[in-house]
Amino acid sequence: MISLPLSRSGKTVLEVACHAAEEAGELLLQRLSGEKHIEYKAGRANIVTDVDLLAEKHIIDILRREYPSFGILSEESEAIIGDSPLTWIIDPIDGTNNYAFGIPFFCVTLALADAECVLLGVTYDPVRKELFHAEQGKGTFRNNNPVSVSQRQTVKASIIGCDMGYDPDKGKRVLDAIMSLWPNMHGIRLMGSAALGLAYVACGRLDLYLQPCLFPWDIASGILLVREAGGNVLDWDGTPASPQTQRVIAGNNILHNEFRRLIGKAGTPLASFL
Ligand code: IPD
Ligand code: CA
Ligand code: CA
Repeated sequence: MISLPLSRSGKTVLEVACHAAEEAGELLLQRLSGEKHIEYKAGRANIVTDVDLLAEKHIIDILRREYPSFGILSEESEAIIGDSPLTWIIDPIDGTNNYAFGIPFFCVTLALADAECVLLGVTYDPVRKELFHAEQGKGTFRNNNPVSVSQRQTVKASIIGCDMGYDPDKGKRVLDAIMSLWPNMHGIRLMGSAALGLAYVACGRLDLYLQPCLFPWDIASGILLVREAGGNVLDWDGTPASPQTQRVIAGNNILHNEFRRLIGKAGTPLASFL
């Protein structure tokens, strides 16, 4: 494991990342009930608000000040190539649709990655003041208390979280797959925030989470949160997910296997990917 340098002001990467996420989270809360300017991006229902841009600027300012040599990959800005092999991967609001509609389920999520893997993940839910963090090899924590994925062993006993992304056909595949198992599960939740969905798998609130079309900033932190909590995040083809993976399933290893077996048996269009 590589040792990560202290920042310009002598803080650890974890301290800097948590500080940036909490500052941005505060800004999100201040603007939650007010007017927002909304613009549409490519893809069905894919929006950005003026608050996404403000929060993003705030986060990038903090990270650039503390670690000027690190690269930046952030949802709403041009990527910055750094002089270091390390890159911050940032989503200033994950769950922008929830945020814009006033549904209090969204987060700030950021990760630090090298070319190989995610080294640090921070996902902050400002409404519930829950900060999830993981560093490679050190476990996953919620507000500094260790957490782990659920130990449930059957899909029948599980709550399955999902999201549909912004591609109508890919989104439908997720619903078809889940409906092909219905009602042989405990429940379904459509989260509206992939990053919080993954954090909820990491702390055992969701047993499985399924998503058809993601970007690196949606999942970079969540991949590490789930793995360090004892579970795994896989591409639908069964290979380990990276931040570049678009279609993911997250959960404990027993449920991964059972879910694949059941979906294969049900013969849904998703089965052709598994
Ligand atoms: C989106 C959310 C949503 C998921 C989309 C993501 P955004 O991120 O995580 O739950 O379905 O695929 O892009 O647009 O709110 O940052
Ligand atoms: Ca996102
Ligand atoms: Ca976003």
